[in-house]
This record gives sequence, structure tokens and C-alpha cells, in this order.
Amino acid sequence: MSTAERITTEKMRIKRNGEFIDVTAVHWDSEKKLLKLIDQRKLPQELEFMDLHDAASVFDAIRNMVVRGAPAIGLTGVYGLLLELNRITRKNPKPAELEQKMHEVFSMIASSRPTAIDLKNLMEEWLLHVRTNLYDTGKAEEYAQHIFERNKQECFEIGVHGSKLFFENAHVLTHCNAGALATADYGTALAPMRVAKTKKITFHIWVGETRPRLQGARLTAWELANEDISHKIIVDSSATFLMSEGMVDFIIVGADRITGDGWVANKIGTLSLAISASYFGVPFYVAIPWSTFAPNTERNDNDIEYRNQDEVLRCPGTQNIANPSSNALNPAFDWMPEDLVTGFITSKGILEYEELFAKKPVKQG
Ligand code: MRU
Repeated sequence: MSTAERITTEKMRIKRNGEFIDVTAVHWDSEKKLLKLIDQRKLPQELEFMDLHDAASVFDAIRNMVVRGAPAIGLTGVYGLLLELNRITRKNPKPAELEQKMHEVFSMIASSRPTAIDLKNLMEEWLLHVRTNLYDTGKAEEYAQHIFERNKQECFEIGVHGSKLFFENAHVLTHCNAGALATADYGTALAPMRVAKTKKITFHIWVGETRPRLQGARLTAWELANEDISHKIIVDSSATFLMSEGMVDFIIVGADRITGDGWVANKIGTLSLAISASYFGVPFYVAIPWSTFAPNTERNDNDIEYRNQDEVLRCPGTQNIANPSSNALNPAFDWMPEDLVTGFITSKGILEYEELFAKKPVKQG
């Protein structure tokens, strides 16, 4: 069966009133020229959508994690620029004014979250194309849609390659949410699970809850439950114990940035998972689209996001549970050296770090 025929089968779907419907975390409404996001802060209790009309609301949505996950915020950033381009061009600005304004909007959106490189990479790619086409709004929209569809296709191909790792009764661990909610569709780390499921392989997923925002317990578990994929949520700190007991066959996570000097940034806790995996001989895979690979960058500790201490001191939706006079430190990401990674699952196969440089498509991301 060809890729094109299969592509409708593993989409993110949810059941509503007994019927399956397809949803995506990020959706461009080409008729109304607005951006529709799933409000991920409300999941799994509510599936609510938010309509965005301008770049300022895109900035807020990314910063406040209505949308999150490296590729999804990159796509949202691109649509934020498109919304602003549509808004400004209605006023017939002079070319220099338009250029200046788009530059300002780019910087504003890029500052919304510092770690995921997809945000800058995808916005830069879009802006370059749009400048070359003299800010033609039709071409700008077409290119935004092209970037979206490309991410979707890439994630599907990540799924096809990554699914080859799965075998009967495999126990696989994942961390945070690198699912359809974090991408155009399918996910990165979750795409291989979706494809393995269609191959009728029986397997089980350990889902790290991912303190403090619980992306694993809330979002990954929601996606897996919607797909009827066997899973259990585990406390983050139990992962090493499970590995020591031989209960983890391999690990797949996503990433927020792969640098040219050999570092992988991902959700806080990934580094300790990778160190434990190396100690216990558990293969460790990182699934990425090309927009996450930034060969011209180096590790920069200033780009690690530190979030509000309230996320640590309070469980979501509860009163303060920690000692009231104590403060907290809340780094949201960590860096792991590439030599702890067994393989990078990409649209071009499962690659070693050095192979990423040769295989990255020239124009992309
Ligand atoms: O803080 P978040 O929820 O945006 O963090 C998300 C992650 O760390 C994901 O693992 C990563 O972005 C890869 S998503 C395909």
C-alpha cells in the first residue's frame, strides 16, 4: 500500500458521540483566514478550540502553552506571521514599513518560548520565501500550508521508519508529549506507535507523567487512549527502576533542538532517562522532523526555558501543596549529549548523529 493511501489511517482522531472525528492541534481556516488551536491546557477534561486573529494572540497562545511541542509551536508561529501579513497589507503599507513590521512581529513571536528551535527555523524559512515573493499574501498562505503538510508527511514517515523497531510484546517508554498534539499530525515519538498499531503488533507504552505540567499523564495518555494503545502512566522517577527490572525494551522521545556541537535539548528529565538507559543497555531513540535539527547552532544554556515556580509548587488545579515559605527552580528542558542516543528517527530513516548533517534537506527548516 502506498504512503498516500495509508496516510488517512493513523491520524489523531477522537471519539465524539460514538463517532470518530479527525482533529489537529493547529488548523488554518483558509475561508475565514484565522488560526484554530486546540487549547491543550484543558485536555484531557475538555476538547476546546481557540480562534486566533492576530500575532499578539499567537504570542500569548505559545507563551501560555495553549499550543506546545516544538513543531506545533513552529507551525503556529508561521501562521502568526501570516495573520499579521494579511492584517498589515490591508492598509497598503510602503514596502519598507511592511518589511520593518514583519521583522518586529518575527522577533516578538520568536521570543515567546526560547528552547524549541523549530519556532525560529520554520518562521525564518517562511519569511525568506515570502520576501522573495514580494509579500504576496496568496503565495504566503500557500507556503504556510506547504510547511504544515510537509511536517505531517515527515511525521508519517518517521512513523513508518520507527515502527520497524517494534516487536511482539515490546515495552516502550516515552516522556512528555511528542504526539499529534505537538506536530501537524501523527507526532514524532508517537508516530511509530500509531503505525505499529496498524501493523497489528501488540506492544505496551510506559508514559512518564512529566512533572510539572504533566504533558505525559494528560496529553500522551489521552492520545494513546484515543487510539486504543495499551499504556500505563508512571511517575517520572520510576523509569530507572523499570529499566533495572528489564521492563523497558527501548525508549522513544521527541526533541526541541539538536545542535551542531552534539547536544539534544528536550523536556526536563530526558537527560536522566538517557543516562539510565545507557547504564542498563536500553536503546534510546530521538524522533525528529528536520526543523528540529540546527547544525549551525551550538549548545546555549541561555536558551533553556525556566518557567514559573508555581508550576512546581502547585499541582495543576490545586492549592499550593509545597511548604508555603519555600521557592522552587523550574528548568523546563535539559541537554543530553548525542552519544547517549542510539538513533535519530527521521523521515529519511533511523540515523546516527553524524548522518544528520549529510541527510538534512538543503532548503528545509
Ligand atoms: O514544554 P513543551 O510541552 O512544549 O515540551 C515539549 C517537548 O519537550 C517535546 O518532547 C518536544 O517538543 C518534541 S515534540 C514533537
